[in-house]
Amino acid sequence: MKTLVLYYSYGGNTRSVAQRIGQALGCDIAEILTATPYTGSYDAIVSQGQREVDTGYEPPIQMLNKNVKDYDTVILGTPVWWYTSAPAVKTALSTYDWHGKTVYPFATNGGWIGHTFRDIEKACTGATVKKGLDIRFSEDQMLTPAADIDRWVQRVKED
Ligand SMILES: Cc1cc2nc3c(=O)[nH]c(=O)nc-3n(C[C@H](O)[C@H](O)[C@H](O)COP(=O)(O)O)c2cc1C
Repeated sequence: MKTLVLYYSYGGNTRSVAQRIGQALGCDIAEILTATPYTGSYDAIVSQGQREVDTGYEPPIQMLNKNVKDYDTVILGTPVWWYTSAPAVKTALSTYDWHGKTVYPFATNGGWIGHTFRDIEKACTGATVKKGLDIRFSEDQMLTPAADIDRWVQRVKED
């Protein structure tokens, strides 16, 4: 089983969790980056994010430093943007071929996860999507106990 932690992070929360999971699994890790970085105040990005989610916009993303084809298991991390995955993750979901892969999603959020995991499951055509991990933050403080993440990682290992 070859595993990749693939994530997008605007503010760093999802990155920190992705790194923790990557270290615990000792696996490769790749960050999804938009071709054009988001700029402006946090409030401006929240509004831009709302427009993008409402219109189903998929921002162009940079080429990854790993080839998703080479992995049969993908741990997919996203921040929640307007009750779903961040638009850049949507781009990744429609760009790569998910057939035959096993996907373990996780989502960092401020308490309103909405339909994030359902949307990821629908977008990963042909993949087996496992139960997601919901990780709460208050700004950059993680509220979900780290032990919950470690337990989830343990289940991934044992699968
Ligand atoms: C555009 C935007 C939309 C957001 N929408 C939600 C939301 O619908 N529900 C929620 O709980 N948190 C929402 N948040 C908060 C983020 O999900 C949370 O801060 C997350 O941990 C950020 O991850 P990051 O630091 O990896 O970007 C939103 C943040 C942004 C920037």
